[in-house]
Amino acid sequence: MMLVNPYNQQDLTVEDEKLIDQAGQEFPKIAGAYRFVQDDNYTQNFGFQWNKFTQTQIDRFSEQSSQSKTRFFAVTEWDKEDLTGKNVLEVGSGAGRFSQVVLDHTQANLYSVDYSNAVEANFKNNGHHPKERFHLFQASIYDLPFAPQTFDKVFCFGVLQHTPDVKKSVENLVKMVKPGGELLVDFYPIRGWWTKIHAKYMFRPWTKKMPHDKLLRRIEKNASWMINASQFFNKIGIGKLTNRFIPICDIKNTLPQNLNKTQLREWVILDTFDMFSPEYDQPQRVETVKQWFEEFGLEVTFAGNINFEGNNVVSAVKGVLK
Ligand SMILES: C[S@@+](CC[C@H](N)C(=O)[O-])C[C@H]1O[C@@H](n2cnc3c(N)ncnc32)[C@H](O)[C@@H]1O
Repeated sequence: MMLVNPYNQQDLTVEDEKLIDQAGQEFPKIAGAYRFVQDDNYTQNFGFQWNKFTQTQIDRFSEQSSQSKTRFFAVTEWDKEDLTGKNVLEVGSGAGRFSQVVLDHTQANLYSVDYSNAVEANFKNNGHHPKERFHLFQASIYDLPFAPQTFDKVFCFGVLQHTPDVKKSVENLVKMVKPGGELLVDFYPIRGWWTKIHAKYMFRPWTKKMPHDKLLRRIEKNASWMINASQFFNKIGIGKLTNRFIPICDIKNTLPQNLNKTQLREWVILDTFDMFSPEYDQPQRVETVKQWFEEFGLEVTFAGNINFEGNNVVSAVKGVLK
C-alpha cells in the first residue's frame, strides 16, 4: 500500500512506530493508530461519544443485534469470498462497527480512517486482528494519507452528512478508488421540507455548542420519559405525527427491535447524543449525490433507499470507476 504525506504528497515509509517522509516529517502511531491530525477539530463530539459508548453498537458484544452486519451486507451486496486479499478503505469508522464486520466476516485488508480520536475505540474493538490486515489512521477525508486510485473498494457509511463540504467529501473518496473499483456511500436522506421540521433541527443550534458531558447528562436525565412517551404514541398509532417533536432518536425506525430494556436505553442515549452534538448535519438528496458520482467519473450502479431489519432505511449511492 502506498502511504503518502497528505500535506506534501511525499511517500511515507514505516519506521518503528511511526511514518516518515523524505523531508523527515513524522506521524506517530499512538494507541494503534497513525495520527495525521490533532483531536481538537470539529469531530470532538464523535471522539467523546465513541470512547464512551465503545461497545454499544458492535455486533460482537451483543447477542441481540447483528444490525451492523445486516446493514453492511444489505448496502454493499459484496460477496465475502470475492473480498479476499482486496484493499478496502473505510472513511469515518467511528467505534468500528463496520470495521468489525469487514475484519470478522471477510479476508480483506482494511484501512480505516476517522478524523476524531474514536480511532482509539476502534482499536479497542478490533485491534486484536493481525496488523497486516487492519490499518488505522486518525486523518481527515479532506487529507487522506494514501496514493490516489489505490483501493478496490471504498466505503463511507453515516459520515457524509457530518462533513462541512459534502460534495468535496465525495470527490476525495472518488480519488481513492482504483479504475474498476467501487465506491459506496450511505447517509441521512432528505425526504422533503418536513425532514427539517423536527426537534433535532430546532434544538441543534444550542445543543451542538453545549459541553459534551453536560449534553450527555441532560439526555440521560430525560431518557426514560422520552422513551415511554414515544413508545406510547407509537402504540396508539400517532407516533409518526407526534414523535418528531420529542427530542429523542427515532426508536421505531433506526434501532434494532429486539433490544432489552437496558440496551434500548443505552442505544437511545447514544443515538440522541449523536443527533444533537455534531457540528454539521446536512442530509442529502440521493439524486444530488448520484450527480456528483457521475460528475467525478463514476458509473452509478445504484442510487436509492435500502431497507434492512424491518423499518430501518438508509439512502445509498454506489458506483464503479470507469
Ligand atoms: C455518525 S459517525 C458514524 C461512524 C461509523 N461509520 C458508524 O456508522 O458507526 C460519523 C463519523 O464520521 C467521522 N468524520 C466526520 N468528519 C470526518 C472527516 N472530515 N474525516 C474523517 N472522518 C470524519 C466522525 O468523527 C464520526 O466518527
